[in-house]
Amino acid sequence: MSVPTVHSEKKGSNLNIIVDSRENIARRAADLYSEVLASKPDAVLGFATGSTPLDLYAELIARVKAGKLSFKDVTTFNLDEYVGLEPTHDQSYRYFMDKNLFEHIDLDSKRVNIPSGIAVGEGESAAYEAAIAAAGGIDMQLLGIGHNGHIGFNEPNTPFGSLTHKVTLTDSTIEANSRFFASRDEVPKEAVTMGIRTVMNARRLVLIALGEGKAEIIKKTVQGPVTEEVPASVLQLHPDAYIFADFEAAKYL
Ligand code: F6R
Repeated sequence: MSVPTVHSEKKGSNLNIIVDSRENIARRAADLYSEVLASKPDAVLGFATGSTPLDLYAELIARVKAGKLSFKDVTTFNLDEYVGLEPTHDQSYRYFMDKNLFEHIDLDSKRVNIPSGIAVGEGESAAYEAAIAAAGGIDMQLLGIGHNGHIGFNEPNTPFGSLTHKVTLTDSTIEANSRFFASRDEVPKEAVTMGIRTVMNARRLVLIALGEGKAEIIKKTVQGPVTEEVPASVLQLHPDAYIFADFEAAKYL
């Protein structure tokens, strides 16, 4: 059976939309990493946290362990980090990345970059942008999507021109993320995130959406107007963006 690939019907949009089962999405997204690293072993990769990338990370780890993939010359930049959490805190995004990917692959920890949740300020944000630029820019940036369309922690109405900055999380994001904490009160109220422009500057974007809960926002992202009210809709303007959606997340496309 051929696997459906839906190409956006929206005029002017270059989105590559891949619809498949959850299992196959992890494999097919991992194939993009295999392709990129085959042509550029020292690629600069942007990573994301959350539930969505876990299957992909497991697949990347399996490929490294099987000797089919190597991250030894790769540089990484993560999208975001909670303000106030030490890198060793078990809910920090640094800890998440270490446990779910970095500790299991042959990546040089000196080339791992994640915004600090402790040293937070305009200087640190500017330094993060400068580090991305010094690395030559991000070749491929992974994204999940919030129910409200956020990418990174860029909540609705974040200016498309934004760079790395500190944000106050919306109630809906705090609520959604409280599932990882002992109580809602423990969820940090602020985060540092790459901005929308930082994300759009990446040469390739890969957004993954899984489950029925993401179906409505995926429809808006792909078929709705490009608007700061739906941050992910900006992907329609990117020249090389992929959206991987499972059948449930793609059900309104
Ligand atoms: C994570 C991030 C967020 C998540 C989004 C979806 O680094 O920046 O934008 O990608 O909140 O989260 P999950 O995957 O848990 O549904």
